[in-house]
This record gives sequence, structure tokens and C-alpha cells, in this order.
Amino acid sequence: MSELIQTSDDALMAEALALAARGRGATSPNPMVGALVTQRGYVVGRGYHARAGGRHAEVVALDEAGDAATGGWLYCTLEPCCHKGRTGPCVERIVQAGLAAVVVGVEDPDPRVRGAGIRYLRERGISVTVGVREAEATRLNEAFFTVQRRARPFVTMKVALSLDGKIAVAPGERTQLTGHEASAHAHDVRGVVDAIAVGSETVVVDDPLLTARGAERQRPLVRVVFDTRMRTPPTARLLGTLDAGPVVIVTTEAGVARWPDRAGGLERAGAVVEVLPARDPAAALSRLLVHDVSDLLLEGGALLHQSMWGAGLVDRVRLYLAPVVLGETGVAWVPLGQVSIATLGESAPRWLGRDLLLETDVHRVD
Ligand SMILES: NC(=O)c1ccc[n+]([C@@H]2O[C@H](COP(=O)([O-])OP(=O)(O)OC[C@H]3O[C@@H](n4cnc5c(N)ncnc54)[C@H](OP(=O)(O)O)[C@@H]3O)[C@@H](O)[C@H]2O)c1
Repeated sequence: MSELIQTSDDALMAEALALAARGRGATSPNPMVGALVTQRGYVVGRGYHARAGGRHAEVVALDEAGDAATGGWLYCTLEPCCHKGRTGPCVERIVQAGLAAVVVGVEDPDPRVRGAGIRYLRERGISVTVGVREAEATRLNEAFFTVQRRARPFVTMKVALSLDGKIAVAPGERTQLTGHEASAHAHDVRGVVDAIAVGSETVVVDDPLLTARGAERQRPLVRVVFDTRMRTPPTARLLGTLDAGPVVIVTTEAGVARWPDRAGGLERAGAVVEVLPARDPAAALSRLLVHDVSDLLLEGGALLHQSMWGAGLVDRVRLYLAPVVLGETGVAWVPLGQVSIATLGESAPRWLGRDLLLETDVHRVD
């Protein structure tokens, strides 16, 4: 037996959510899930989903609880699954364990579940409560919910910006705008997302690596270039780092028809060339689901940001504001009237060394 608890469903769900968050960066395309088993005021089992393909949180918690689960309660941040994926359905295991009650954070939006797990348990006499800390449970898995509801990844538009709204000192000039702390923060974020995307001009100008440097990363990082004309050189540094993860070049049928040699050259250099019928930002994002991209960081440049923003495909804006002015020659970001700094200011700004981090949600999932 573990420690005695004198606490509410709310507090136990908060602990299950904290357990779930331990899987951040490792479970995609699966959701992060945490679970607790209690018995007569004691927590007798704890679990979380540690990686895609691994045991589900409920199973880990029930394994830990063993016989002590009989007649106990299960707290689970997401509705237990009732379909057989890479592991068996959790609801069967819950029934076998002889639990008396299950408390669920939020219903699973996966069409194979969507309440069916809850119904299965109720039909077998288990009391089920749904919606404890529901908003937090939903936000924890905002990428998973976005994939299920919108059939595309969760998109965070990230930019480093000067005080006068510029992203580079001049066209064609690679510019490091932010200081060490902001860069470290950006690399930590790269450590947990599924993919980073840039426009082709950014590859041509900056020749970036798009890797998560200094951050611990447990899975390959997909790097995506939106590049109809396939101007990404086969010698790009990106393609020299395929051990960090695949490089996906998004182009169109017309692009391949016009520049077949470029497509072939990129494939020979190890890139995956994704060919869409036409240039369509929404279709391009949906196509990324085949690469298990649920959480996408859109790193720029301005044209790509503008196109995704204009199509209503941005869920979050993350802006690193650097205390520099680049003046007339600087490369402008999207017109600031469009992505309102005032709205960004509503989020709690945070200093990262000399730079200011502003972050706001455009579409909320809860
Ligand atoms: N400060 C920052 O945070 C930051 C971040 C990244 C880049 N930058 C800077 O930004 C500059 C490059 O930005 P940029 O605006 O000129 O170019 P960009 O956004 O990097 O790339 C634009 C190109 O992407 C291709 N593309 C493919 N699909 C697209 C779509 N749906 N929407 C828009 N473009 C699409 C287009 O070429 P095709 O027609 O061939 O498809 C387009 O010309 C560089 O100076 C770079 O250093 C700054």
C-alpha cells in the first residue's frame, strides 16, 4: 500500500494529469495519459503512457496495484480505450480487475472510442464519472485533439522579431536575433514537438539544421520544407542530418512535372518528396499526418507564416521579441496589424534573458 489520501476527485485527477505530462515528447501520435488506482483511501497504483507502442497508463497503474485494485477506483485523464491498437483494449482489463468506479478527465475524441469505452464500462456495472478537470485534460493533449477534430496537426507559428517587426537584417542575410536564453528555449521546444517546418527561402538563405540542439529528444524529428520549386539544394545541411529525423519536401504535381531532376536529386539525397495536387496549405498539413506529425512548429519565414495564418491554420503564436531595431532594410514579418501584438500581450510575457517571450492561442481546443 502507498500513502493514505484524504483528497478529492479533483486533486487525484490533478495528480494523474501530472503523471500524464511525464510522457510529453514521447507518446505522439498517441495522447499523453496518466492513471491512478485507489483503494480505501490509499493510492495503490500509478501509471502513465511513456511512449507510443508502450503499455497504456491504466494498464501500468493496474499492474502496479495488482490484487489491491479489486473494488477500487481508477482515475484516468482520458477515456480508456475500447479498441485493439498496438495493445489490448483497456476497458477489458479494467473489468477483469474488478474496479468499482472509474473517473475520467475527458472523453477520447478518437472516432474508434468517443464514449464507447465509457458505455462499455457502465454496461458492466462500473460507475463512471466523466469531466473532472476536463479543460486541463483536453489542453494537455491539444495536438491529439486537433488531429482528431481538424484532421491536421496542431500548428504553432514561431518567430523571432525585432522591435520594428523584422525577421532578418536584410534579404538573403542570415540573422541571429535572439540571445542565448531564447535560443535555448526554442531548442527545448524542438525537443518535444513532432516536426519543424520552414519555407524554401529560409533553407536557401539560412541553410538551417533544424535539429534540437542541447535538448534531450527521444524520437526522430521530422523536418519539413514547403518548396514547390524544390530549390532546397541536395547539399543542404538539413539533408546531412538525416540521423536526426526525416526531411520531407512538400511540392506539387506541377512542380515535379516542371523540375523532375530536382525531385530526383532530393530523393537521392535522402529526402521524402511529398507531391500534392496543387499548392494548398490545409492539404499540405493534413498530408503530414502520414508522417505521424501531430504537433508542428512553423518556424518561418514570413511568406509561409502569412500563408498559414491567412488560411486560418495557426493554433498558437509564439513570438520572441528581441530588443533590436533593424530599420528599413530589414525583412518584414507578416503585417503586425494581422497578428495583433495587443492580443499577444494578453498572454503573460516572460523574459528570456534580454528577449521577451509572448505566446497566445488562436484556436483553443477546450
Ligand atoms: N526571425 C525568424 O524567426 C525567422 C525564421 C525563419 C526565417 N527567417 C528569415 O526569413 C527569410 C525568408 O522568409 P521568406 O518570407 O522570404 O520566405 P519563406 O517563407 O522562408 O519561404 C517562402 C517560399 O516557400 C515556398 N512555399 C511553399 N508553399 C508555400 C506556402 N503555402 N506559402 C508560402 N510559401 C510557400 C514558396 O516557394 P515555392 O513557390 O517554390 O513553393 C515561397 O517562395 C530569411 O531571411 C530568413 O532568414 C526568419
